[in-house]
Amino acid sequence: MTTTCCTLLALESSCDETAVALLRQDASGTRVLAENLHSQIAQHAEYGGVVPEIAARAHLHYFPDLIRQTLSEGGILMDNLTAIACTTGPGLIGGLLVGSMMARAIARREGLPFYGIHHLEGHLLSPRLGTLPRSKPEFPYLVLLASGGHTLIVLAEGLGQYCILGRSRDDALGEAFDKSAIIMGLPYPGGPVLERYAVKGEPDRFSLPSPLIGSREKADRMSCDFSFSGLKTAVARLWQKLPQMSETARYQTQCDIAAGFHRVVSKILCNRLENALQRFRVRYPNHGTHAIPVVFVGGVSANQILRNALEGLCQQKSAQLSTVPHALCTDNAVMIACAAFERIQANLSPEPNHNPARPR
Ligand code: KG4
Ligand code: ZN
Repeated sequence: MTTTCCTLLALESSCDETAVALLRQDASGTRVLAENLHSQIAQHAEYGGVVPEIAARAHLHYFPDLIRQTLSEGGILMDNLTAIACTTGPGLIGGLLVGSMMARAIARREGLPFYGIHHLEGHLLSPRLGTLPRSKPEFPYLVLLASGGHTLIVLAEGLGQYCILGRSRDDALGEAFDKSAIIMGLPYPGGPVLERYAVKGEPDRFSLPSPLIGSREKADRMSCDFSFSGLKTAVARLWQKLPQMSETARYQTQCDIAAGFHRVVSKILCNRLENALQRFRVRYPNHGTHAIPVVFVGGVSANQILRNALEGLCQQKSAQLSTVPHALCTDNAVMIACAAFERIQANLSPEPNHNPARPR
């Protein structure tokens, strides 16, 4: 397929965002023609997390209007599309099936190629999108991906060539943020709330554990694995032991715990990224003095406190950190389009239309 001018409609529905994006790629670069997203946060907030059945029904309800609206805002008719892309996994099976069936139905009716995209590939390729006003990371680069479902360090060696250097052995980092917030009576999603509280907190008041960090075991010195469930449990123990307090004291305590939480998470992320940088240098000894490209992606990467900590480490270790604008950190369809464009450019064939959605 030629990339002279390619107009792509992309759908994302792997969790609790119903997202549609329309992008065009031509000789002048890649542009987002229109983008719409319905966040279901309000529908799930009272349950303290995403309810799969509610999510699937909401995707079914919102997609048709969002697709129509996006095409109309972009001034594009179905006939003008070159391809359709949609997340086919991993994620919640109901939402994946809704998005994928809808996208496949449009593709079949319009006779267009369908690109089934891996959600995490969308996240990790998103900093390469040509429209972003920052330097594009070139392969090979390191990826720190932290979302509500995954925490991974990946060595992206080329398109489709991803080597997982480490992952969380238990809770994902976003999950630890969400659960810790709920424990302290704060709303879902916990990440942005804890960040706001942390800014007003005193990180030294409470000490929280940093599991797996500081191990003297030789085998662990280069480890890029994470463990966050102990951190959440420590927050729960701390919270349960606190005496009765006034509203003001309770608020300050929430801020102080949030600040301590951020301090420990920054330490863990920096420690594991430092190990990953060492492993990168071993794998690519000829990289020499060039700065190692590192991208921080996924919902948690919207966090400015964590970004600053990682930025500090990267400056010390001659690495170059890239992040994406906040709207591209959390789930969105632009990153799915971005991954599809890369596949089209690389002449990778579209996925056969009969492939099912893959929850894992
Ligand atoms: O990537 P994402 O939108 O969905 C998944 O693929 O999971 O990530 C959602 C996660 C939630 O756990 C949310 O609490 C977290 O990203 N998050 C944040 C921030 N904004 C969203 N975590 C920390 N700080 C933030 N500012
Ligand atoms: Zn995600």
